[in-house]
Amino acid sequence: MAKQVPGRVTMEKLTSLCQRRGFIFPSSDIYGGLSSCWDYGPVGVELKRNIKEVWWRNNVQERDDMVGLDTSILMHPRVWEASEHLAQFSDPLVECKNCHLRWRADELKGDRCPSCNGELTEPHQFNLMFKTFMGPMEEAANVVYLRPETAQGIFVNFENVVNTSRKRLPFGIAQIGKSFRNEITTGNFVFRSREFEQMEIEFFVKPGTDDKWFDYWLEERFNWYVKLSIKKENLRLREHAEEELAHYAHKCYDIDYNFPMGWSELEGIANRGDFDLKQHMTYSGKSLTYLDEESKEHIIPYIIEPSAGVDRSVLAVLCDAYEEEPDKDEIRVLFHFHPDLAPIKVAVLPLSRKENLAALAKDVYADLRPCWMVQYDDTQSIGRRYRRQDELGTPFCVTIDFQSLEDNMVTIRERDTMNQIRLPIAALRDTLQAKLAGEDLFVLPEGGQIWKEEKHA
Ligand code: GAP
Repeated sequence: MAKQVPGRVTMEKLTSLCQRRGFIFPSSDIYGGLSSCWDYGPVGVELKRNIKEVWWRNNVQERDDMVGLDTSILMHPRVWEASEHLAQFSDPLVECKNCHLRWRADELKGDRCPSCNGELTEPHQFNLMFKTFMGPMEEAANVVYLRPETAQGIFVNFENVVNTSRKRLPFGIAQIGKSFRNEITTGNFVFRSREFEQMEIEFFVKPGTDDKWFDYWLEERFNWYVKLSIKKENLRLREHAEEELAHYAHKCYDIDYNFPMGWSELEGIANRGDFDLKQHMTYSGKSLTYLDEESKEHIIPYIIEPSAGVDRSVLAVLCDAYEEEPDKDEIRVLFHFHPDLAPIKVAVLPLSRKENLAALAKDVYADLRPCWMVQYDDTQSIGRRYRRQDELGTPFCVTIDFQSLEDNMVTIRERDTMNQIRLPIAALRDTLQAKLAGEDLFVLPEGGQIWKEEKHA
């Protein structure tokens, strides 16, 4: 067989690996899929949950100046009038007169259909909000929308949160939840879909301090991705030009990631000024001002909004962690996930299914499961099982062999270096805890030994 040569990540490789290993499947797969909707499989759901949990821990749990919220997807229709989504949240749509495919006019290079070179219709504005009806009557009075951003749920609860949390400016409200946009063009796997999740912060500040806080959040959010092991060279900041700014924004930067299809937006950080609170005051007739204790004046806070996509973060993490390495004549494919993000932290692998070995391996498995997502695998050769765990991005494999029955020791094999250490089972849990928290694998517990794994064909 010809020697395989390691290559770079492509969307095709990623999509196929994600489907094969249970990260992400097309929605309604058995019916041929539903365009731009995706299902997260047993491994993908763990990765996605880990991203959301780290975001929540870093932005809510570990901060004094932030509280969380979980608001409903369906909101009063007046919200979307106030936010101007009804009037403004649209893209220019053109249709090919020949093949009837539809395109976003602002994304086309020429003035002909990219698919069949046919003539295109004049553009018309197409609102991206999904419409539905509340209650049994499908009539105009009952129209409601699936929210296109989670942010509005935060703005309309500003007063509730101030009154109940006793937070003083500057402070933020964070929310993770589903949003829906009837995008004209989708694609690039989960990058642009019609149903997706957002992780949004609305950070309320005194007018005049907004530039300072904008810069603060720009740096904070950029560094968050770096802390999660995303390579700095694959991240960049890009300022929006005047004509690109959303109707509510004074200023906006994107954190872009260098995806296989090119640099594209991962997160947007906007200075929304007092637009949203003012609009909701006008439309609801309720006061959403804040009593400034220093000046004793009622003010309308400005809002800095770091708004990240969960699915785009998943995609960036997958792209960044993917690697192909030479392994004799074959290639080893692995995900170098940060331990906090790895879907499965530890795999327990008995060398054989023999009863006494299986019993010991099951004991080890039972001991580790309360701490992390752990997988038990006793199928195929140990080399193949290591490769499977590499493709799942599992940081550590614990191998139980016949010697373990004699000496009560097991082997930990590390994903990235393939180094192995042997240590007493009694020290296993604490050692894994330390390794997952970033301690060097070579800091050995008493009685431990080190060696390097043979590459498996
Ligand atoms: N509240 C502000 C807001 O929604 P946005 O730039 O439209 O701003 C924020 O969206 C983030 O949500 C984007 O940076 C992206 O990560 C994610 N996002 C937006 N549309 C998306 C889509 N169709 N599919 C997947 N993620 C999307």
